[in-house]
Amino acid sequence: MTYLSRFIKLAVVAVVICLSGQFTVLRAEAATKEIAGGHGVAAPPAKLDNATCLACHEAGKTQQKPAETGDEPQAPHGVDNKKFGKSVHGEMQCIACHRDIVDATAPHKKGAGQKANCVDCHQELWETAKKENLTKEKSRLGVVVQNIEYYKNSHHARPNKEDKSRANAVCDDCHHSHIFSVPPQGTLKRADWHLTIPNVCGEKCHSDALEDYSSSVHGKQVLEERNLKAADCADCHTSHSITTTVKDPFKISITEKCGSCHTESLETYRATYHGQVNKLGYGHTAKCYDCHGSHGILSPKDPESKVHPENRLNTCQKCHKEATQGFVTFSPHANTHDFARYPQVWVVSRFMWALLVWVFAFFWLHTGLWWYREAKDRRARKDHPDRRR
Ligand code: HEC
Ligand code: HEC
Ligand code: HEC
Ligand code: HEC
Ligand code: HEC
Ligand code: HEC
Ligand code: HEC
Ligand code: HEC
Repeated sequence: MTYLSRFIKLAVVAVVICLSGQFTVLRAEAATKEIAGGHGVAAPPAKLDNATCLACHEAGKTQQKPAETGDEPQAPHGVDNKKFGKSVHGEMQCIACHRDIVDATAPHKKGAGQKANCVDCHQELWETAKKENLTKEKSRLGVVVQNIEYYKNSHHARPNKEDKSRANAVCDDCHHSHIFSVPPQGTLKRADWHLTIPNVCGEKCHSDALEDYSSSVHGKQVLEERNLKAADCADCHTSHSITTTVKDPFKISITEKCGSCHTESLETYRATYHGQVNKLGYGHTAKCYDCHGSHGILSPKDPESKVHPENRLNTCQKCHKEATQGFVTFSPHANTHDFARYPQVWVVSRFMWALLVWVFAFFWLHTGLWWYREAKDRRARKDHPDRRR
């Protein structure tokens, strides 16, 4: 019995000790939490709002710290806050796009987050819009993903030959990430934006093409006359589905592109042997640019033009090696309705028409008279059945 009562006493004591120990631990934990919540045992996260970033990154600010690596100090890339505020992303936080930036020091420590990336974020936005049935209200976001789709299959999305780690051109190369906004169609601002295209393509990358283009009819119209109707790089190459120019799909489609503005030239071209072969889907035949050139297109009246009478034989001989001056009298755009420019073609075509009309007129007149005679004969037989033929 005494053993049993002793055991119970011991057990009770043990339980009491345990419980009180547990309680002390809990109290201690609560106390720690209180300190942490109040005056920070660990440092609070650094402020990463736009004002903080702009303290170093605002455009025009020279404030910079030498990188601690001992390398040359790098000036931080400037963001024009006014223009940023007016851009399509003006309401956003810097770190919403720059997810890899986790501090406000220079040089930045690299976080695990993704680098700023137009594609992934916009594909997510569009998926969300689709789920919420907001595709009509947010149709502009649809335009963005549409362009992303075009871009993904384009020549620019392929790895660069010299540096395989990067694409030939990314969104940011053509659209300034921080000030990107799309002015509405038909406004003066939209026109200004459109007229910058040749420089966007030419300044950083395609300087040779820009140089030739600047002296062409199209280039002069666009860059000097601000003529929105003349061809810029994107009219011939598209803006996002740019393909290589050495393969057939481009060679076939470019004819339609020229023809969308030069409808009459396309029509007359289609009527020729070259045009017929091209329409069947063959790229080897003469296309608009084989005769006119591509970036340096000039008026045929310009002595430098590839189709000026002085230079035409040379141009045809690229393919027709045996061509002579006589061969070159063939008119690639002969128009049977234009007497002033193509008198022989006009005369021949009128003659053929006249011949055709004459032959048919004679045929029907002859047939008509024949029927008349037949009808007359029949009536005569009916009225006088006695009369035989
Ligand atoms: C104390 C000045 C300073 C502040 C504040 C600052 N930066 Fe920077 N940042 C720099 C400097 C200097 C560089 C260039 C040197 C380098 O690459 O680190 C730079 C480079 C960058 C780059 C390009 C290089 C990279 O690492 O990708 C990005 C993007 C960037 N900062 C974003 C931000 C954002 C977003 C903020 C706000 C959260 C911010 N910075 C705050 C000084 C600063
Ligand atoms: C809509 C997304 C977006 C927002 C918002 C944004 N950026 Fe950027 N930023 C980009 C993209 C895209 C690039 C170019 C790609 C790259 O190099 O990372 C870039 C480039 C930079 C660079 C230069 C990186 C380099 O390598 O040259 C700095 C610095 C920078 N941003 C700072 C800022 C600051 C500061 C803010 C806020 C005022 C901000 N960004 C807001 C998307 C954004
Ligand atoms: C981290 C997310 C994010 C990134 C990265 C981002 N955007 Fe956006 N973008 C947005 C949001 C959010 C909106 C506003 C959506 C709305 O209006 O509902 C927007 C709007 C737009 C619009 C506006 C459509 C219109 O005309 O109304 C365009 C264009 C656009 N972004 C292009 C880009 C380009 C180009 C890049 C890369 C330089 C980029 N975005 C990077 C989130 C992002
Ligand atoms: C090689 C240059 C180039 C690249 C790369 C590029 N764009 Fe464009 N983008 C253009 C041009 C040029 C226009 C203007 C077309 C016009 O004025 O008709 C344009 C227009 C746009 C428009 C406005 C379209 C409209 O009809 O309102 C959006 C949105 C756009 N681009 C998004 C993107 C996105 C997102 C990427 C990256 C996936 C990208 N672009 C990559 C050249 C480019
Ligand atoms: C009138 C239509 C037209 C215009 C405008 C035009 N291109 Fe082209 N481009 C072509 C044709 C056709 C080819 C393929 C034949 C050739 O290589 O000459 C081509 C080829 C190219 C090529 C690949 C061959 C090479 O020269 O490297 C590049 C790059 C190019 N163009 C860039 C541009 C740029 C940049 C602009 C604007 C400054 C532009 N193009 C304006 C029609 C055009
Ligand atoms: C076989 C060579 C050849 C081909 C192919 C060709 N052209 Fe021509 N083009 C000429 C010659 C030569 C002239 C000037 C003499 C003439 O008008 O017949 C000319 C004149 C023109 C003119 C000047 C305007 C005019 O009516 O005088 C335009 C515009 C034109 N071509 C556009 C085109 C377009 C667009 C295509 C493609 C659909 C095309 N050309 C295909 C050789 C060609
Ligand atoms: C976006 C519309 C557009 C496209 C695409 C276009 N052009 Fe033109 N082109 C014009 C305009 C506008 C002019 C200047 C006005 C004029 O004289 O017809 C012009 C002028 C010309 C001229 C000089 C006409 C003359 O009589 O002086 C030729 C030749 C020509 N283009 C050929 C081409 C060829 C070849 C292509 C395709 C490789 C092409 N164009 C694509 C709009 C275009
Ligand atoms: C890019 C190459 C190319 C150029 C440049 C070119 N042609 Fe052709 N042409 C062809 C091909 C291919 C055929 C089809 C021949 C065949 O049957 O294989 C053809 C056929 C013709 C034909 C009818 C068939 C024949 O041989 O009798 C005439 C006529 C002609 N070309 C005239 C011209 C004239 C004139 C020029 C210069 C203004 C010219 N071509 C420039 C490729 C070209």
